[in-house]
Amino acid sequence: MHYRLLGRSGLRVSELCLGTMTFGTEWGWGADKQESYRLFETFGKAGGNFLDTANRYTEGTSERFLGEFIEADRDHWVLATKYTLKDRNGDLNFAGNHRKNLFRSVQESLKRLKTDYIDLLWVHMWDATTPVEEVMRGLDDLVSRGMVHYVGISDTPAWIVSQANTIADFRGWSPFVALQIEYSLIQRTPERDLLPMARALDLAVTPWGAIAGGALTGKYLRGENGRVPTHSIRRNDKSMTIAQEVVNVAQELGVTPAQVAINWTRQRDQVMVPIVGARTTQQLLDSLGCLEFSIPPEYLGRLQEVSKIELGFPHDFLRSDGVKDVTFGGLYNQLHNHRS
Ligand SMILES: NC(=O)c1ccc[n+]([C@@H]2O[C@H](COP(=O)([O-])OP(=O)(O)OC[C@H]3O[C@@H](n4cnc5c(N)ncnc54)[C@H](OP(=O)(O)O)[C@@H]3O)[C@@H](O)[C@H]2O)c1
Repeated sequence: MHYRLLGRSGLRVSELCLGTMTFGTEWGWGADKQESYRLFETFGKAGGNFLDTANRYTEGTSERFLGEFIEADRDHWVLATKYTLKDRNGDLNFAGNHRKNLFRSVQESLKRLKTDYIDLLWVHMWDATTPVEEVMRGLDDLVSRGMVHYVGISDTPAWIVSQANTIADFRGWSPFVALQIEYSLIQRTPERDLLPMARALDLAVTPWGAIAGGALTGKYLRGENGRVPTHSIRRNDKSMTIAQEVVNVAQELGVTPAQVAINWTRQRDQVMVPIVGARTTQQLLDSLGCLEFSIPPEYLGRLQEVSKIELGFPHDFLRSDGVKDVTFGGLYNQLHNHRS
């Protein structure tokens, strides 16, 4: 395991993060406590120190399990949790990005996690309601109180993240240092604005769903069951074609499809620390095998080709030959070429 700096911060995190949405069986497809502990232990033994959970995962069980698992050596772990999602039915203020929910949710997370600080607090998703200043000021207050060390943002449009960090910089508040997004061979739309923004603002990118909930392992091509519903875009014709190419590449390289899918995210030209999800220790051991190799360029090219997307306006317009000739030549292309 190697370690990376988390964006514009001095925090060292392992090059893979362990996702713990599978810790607990409340959602119908997770791991029981014993298996969750084995996943945690396996990740730690491989050198992993970066753990991702959320107030809402498995109705609080994921945080509770983690709290017990890390208790013996709390300071070793870089513990990330999230706030925003509802954790009491029918009570309006138990959800959202606002200050009341922020403070309440973090206090509850601290209790479940049996700790007095969170290394990285994520805004889980944008509520399109709370003013950006309220969110940034509230997060900064938590940092000032020592309850939270760093802040990050997940599932939010690029323009809001840019506005938030600009305001935080001008006011001397803690800016977001990391971005959590869905990003995989079958979800490349973050290449339009989120990834260029992360590069410009020096945000670490932590992709979730790198193997698309299992779809990119080829299990649905083989008719196996899994947790991805049949109507999901992760199982449409294009996604199945991409999954088939992942399987082909894996066979030719003598590795597994999960390893290929995870390494494709790690081989983009900006810091990416994938959040690896697993339901069984065997799956996690398989995924950790991605640390042993890199995908050679010709195979990367094949994966890029089968999964490519249109960037859309203004990117395609700015890259078009007509505009290129009369303006800034290849500069715009240089920014986007690595992704096409
Ligand atoms: N910010 C957000 O909105 C957000 C959203 C989702 C997730 N996350 C975070 O990201 C983490 C990972 O997300 P994810 O679970 O959706 O993504 P994922 O890593 O794409 O999928 C994990 C699932 O794929 C299957 N799997 C894992 N390793 C495998 C292997 N080596 N071979 C075959 N199948 C394998 C398992 O499904 P089966 O049960 O079918 O075997 C497992 O539950 C979560 O734990 C969470 O921490 C964040």
